[in-house]
Amino acid sequence: MKRLLFVVGLGFAGLHAGGFNAPMQAYMQELTLEAKSVDGAFSGFDAKRGESLFTTKHIGKKGTEVSCTTCHTANLKNNGQNSNTNKSILPLAPSANAQRLTDVKEVQKWLRRNFNDVFAREGTAQEKGDVLSYIITQ
Ligand code: HEC
Repeated sequence: MKRLLFVVGLGFAGLHAGGFNAPMQAYMQELTLEAKSVDGAFSGFDAKRGESLFTTKHIGKKGTEVSCTTCHTANLKNNGQNSNTNKSILPLAPSANAQRLTDVKEVQKWLRRNFNDVFAREGTAQEKGDVLSYIITQ
């Protein structure tokens, strides 16, 4: 079943860069419903808002200024570096790393941790959808 979903996902997204697989599309749909339930005027995710969320600095959970780019760099096709552990991080851009944004559980886990790192709170459905809409285009 997993494999079938994967094949269907590829068929839907095509083989060119960009586009979520079927499980990730279902996750984006969930986020859409949640965002709508919070804000009746919500009219869809926006990669531009996601980009500014990704690049803007905030006071993170350690009380210092951080952004998503602190670890992932501003060019998502490049390797990043974990500012906590100094370990290198493979590129976040799906065009440079085909594994990215393919596994819903992995994406949820890291968004939860990373929003906490940067915003000292969890992301809202709209923020998560916006930032994923940005990353998928990279
Ligand atoms: C303190 C360093 C750090 C910061 C800051 C950070 N990340 Fe990450 N991020 C990581 C690490 C480490 C991983 C997991 C290792 C890996 O997948 O290579 C990861 C993984 C991810 C993934 C998983 C992608 C996938 O499909 O494998 C996403 C999405 C992500 N980060 C988004 C973000 C966003 C959005 C922000 C800003 C809110 C952010 N990150 C800030 C370190 C960071």
